[in-house]
Amino acid sequence: KWSMDDFIKDQIEKIRATVGDKKVLLGLSGGVDSSVVGVLLHEAIGDQLVSIFVDHGLLRKNEANEVMAALGGKFGLNIVKVDAQKRFLDKLAGVSDPEQKRKIIGNEFIQVFDEEATKLKGIDFLAQGTLYTDIIESGTDTAQTIKSHHNVGGLPEDMQFTLIEPLKTLFKDEVRELGEKLGMPHDLVWRQPFPGPGLGIRVLGDITEDKLEIVRDSDAILREEFAKRGLDAEVWQYFTVLTGVRSVGVMGDGRTYDYTIAIRAITSIDGMTADFAKLPWDALEEISRRIVNEVDGINRVVYDITAKPPATVEWE
Ligand code: XMP
Repeated sequence: KWSMDDFIKDQIEKIRATVGDKKVLLGLSGGVDSSVVGVLLHEAIGDQLVSIFVDHGLLRKNEANEVMAALGGKFGLNIVKVDAQKRFLDKLAGVSDPEQKRKIIGNEFIQVFDEEATKLKGIDFLAQGTLYTDIIESGTDTAQTIKSHHNVGGLPEDMQFTLIEPLKTLFKDEVRELGEKLGMPHDLVWRQPFPGPGLGIRVLGDITEDKLEIVRDSDAILREEFAKRGLDAEVWQYFTVLTGVRSVGVMGDGRTYDYTIAIRAITSIDGMTADFAKLPWDALEEISRRIVNEVDGINRVVYDITAKPPATVEWE
């Protein structure tokens, strides 16, 4: 009978046999898959694994620090952190078309990763957190492109690496089980999905640092309230979106003319179809109240009650 313990033992032996005394490179995104690959490889080959974590400035509040603390600190992974916030923001300045934004973020990501990888000498292998479902989906990709999803950690084009994909026979729930067996923190293993382009597609239209801060702060409030009420375990994905809509409000005795935050919270199995979460009114009430009070530039909060289809999960 197949067991996760056997899987770990087998994979560690296999990785050691394949890698020998060579080095392996890994692109960490902070997501579940690449994190689990990182911890598994570190268990197998220790510091022969070198990870690159690109902070593109489109991460959630404290996310970069949390990833570094969890994987670099507790597990002792050797991580090269690249602070590329300015590069991404410069490239994105004034760009408001969603597909254009995705393309810029994806390309810049590969370029930054490529540059860093080139600096590291003597690396033969590239590890990736490819899952069984990724293999199936890319095999049948004849459908019209709705959004050009990009995943963090694209393969640098002219680099000669041998791929190591230890999760490619697993489904997502098995990856989570593996992560827990490896002693990874619950929060990291049960992380909700987060798109490669990050907050870049949650600021509608053109991106500025101020707008990113609004999304980060409102999203942090949302996550805090969800965790407090245990909603984080029930809802598949939840986040805030900075709409481009400004509206009139009143605060104290003054008129305001500020932006609207939308809350998106969905139930889903795989993100392909989704329904909006039937959240308790008092939770929505408290989240709305806090966002308007605590986040500058926001005077209105709306809840997205659309299913996918016809809407998508993300607004861009
Ligand atoms: P949509 O918006 O297409 O989202 O209904 C479905 C799921 O995919 C995530 N998503 C992305 N993930 N790169 C990613 O890695 C992307 O460009 C991207 N766009 C959307 C989204 O968060 C949801 O979980």
